[in-house]
Amino acid sequence: MPLHYLELETHEAVALIRFNRPQVLNALCAAMMAELAGVLDQLEQDHAIRAVVLTGTAEAFAAGADIKEMRDLTYMDVYRADFVTVDWERIASFRKPIIAAVAGFALGGGCEMALMCDFILAADNARFGQPEIKLGTIPGAGGSQRLARFVGKSKAMDMVLTGRTLDAQEAERCGLVSRVVKADELVDEALLTASRIASYSGPVCMLAKEAVNAAFETTLAEGVRQERRLFHSTFAIDDQKEGMAAFSEKRRAQFSHR
Ligand code: CAA
Repeated sequence: MPLHYLELETHEAVALIRFNRPQVLNALCAAMMAELAGVLDQLEQDHAIRAVVLTGTAEAFAAGADIKEMRDLTYMDVYRADFVTVDWERIASFRKPIIAAVAGFALGGGCEMALMCDFILAADNARFGQPEIKLGTIPGAGGSQRLARFVGKSKAMDMVLTGRTLDAQEAERCGLVSRVVKADELVDEALLTASRIASYSGPVCMLAKEAVNAAFETTLAEGVRQERRLFHSTFAIDDQKEGMAAFSEKRRAQFSHR
């Protein structure tokens, strides 16, 4: 499938997806989101890929949904099409580890897209915000929900009601991003981090992701119960036998991803 709005590279077991509409700061148009969903479908089926990095360009991860494309849509258009659901939510349902590597603007849908990834590495020039209020609308791709869960009510309200942007340091302080790195080292650092994840057992990483995600969907007791069952299930995986044998025999584990 030829890609017009994205670039896709593979680095051994890691796939790097780059938004590629730099002339509009990677504004997320429908065609770009359809491409992204298609690429994620393909990567999920590809057993040789065990981790993914999603990034943008030096100036922007993505400056939000494409305002010029959506400005004339009617209520019926967006309701019938379930706008910002189809294709957009594909990131949230992606089962393999996916890291957002954010440089420059991550605004509106761009910030929401990064929040759908498993964690965010930020360049020191990254800027995060939910500026929809300035356009007479509200976050629609999970911003009010995921943001509030990850950074708490006060910071989420501050961002959503004022539309102000957070620099990388403030984003790190409030837990929106896992770490901040120099802008020119962002992609290398993200690839290194993804390679480390990909060096572990693929199915066990998927189970680990599923377990952490349960924390955002369930009560504590139910989440712990789910975790316990997932933990027990790893004892049926060859890689758990290999990992524990390798530790006991003081050698490096050779995971077969089974
Ligand atoms: N949609 C469409 N085009 C966009 C865009 C967007 N979200 N963001 C930037 N662009 C375009 C600009 O229109 C401009 O194109 P032209 O040269 O053809 O005019 C180009 O990208 C460069 O942008 P600027 O000239 O504005 O660059 P700047 O450096 O002066 O400002 C900015 C950068 C502060 C990010 C500014 O572009 C901006 O405020 N963008 C909009 C951010 C925004 O409101 N995002 C939320 C969108 S709504 C949403 O995402 C809803 C949701 O929850 C799903």
